[in-house]
Amino acid sequence: MLVNKTNKVDNNYVPDNLILTDSIYKNNIYLNNKCFEMFKKLQKDMKRLDYNIDIMSGYRSYKYQEKIYNKLVHDKGLSYASRAVATPGSSEHQTGLAIDICVYKNDKCYIEHDLIDMKEINYLHKNIHKYGFILRYPFGKEEITGYNYEPWHIRYVGDISKYLYKNNLTLEEYYQKKLDK
Ligand code: DAL
Ligand code: ZN
Repeated sequence: MLVNKTNKVDNNYVPDNLILTDSIYKNNIYLNNKCFEMFKKLQKDMKRLDYNIDIMSGYRSYKYQEKIYNKLVHDKGLSYASRAVATPGSSEHQTGLAIDICVYKNDKCYIEHDLIDMKEINYLHKNIHKYGFILRYPFGKEEITGYNYEPWHIRYVGDISKYLYKNNLTLEEYYQKKLDK
């Protein structure tokens, strides 16, 4: 499903197949079960290379997204917030299909902008399509997605991930292409 600034989900929307994850970063993170299953494969394969990733954020309710959004508007202003956090009802996190990744390294946990240029995150970007994920807010596509580059936010899309990766397409471009056909 496409969820963005113009395709919103209902305030009360809660996905059916949520499952409790085993995130060490934070307790009580839920994800779509298939999304979690594929994340576990990715995590296990990366661990073999001594790359240690975890889930920093997964499913977020409408109410929780509202809290995050309001806090960022308060802290950084509306203009910044609108390019960094989705308004409640327009976040992919409400679908349970999006994950914010963090990386453990040298007894530290790296999140968000600190991940830029880390070899773990570069590896992740080049390989997640094999597990059904895409990098949802890539560098250079900010005008299309409506958000700043987020190297940490990945989205489970299933089989089309390989097509999107090979053709360097965002979900917005993919759905637009489908409409054009
Ligand atoms: N940071 C992404 C855009 C979200 O809040 O869903
Ligand atoms: Zn995210």
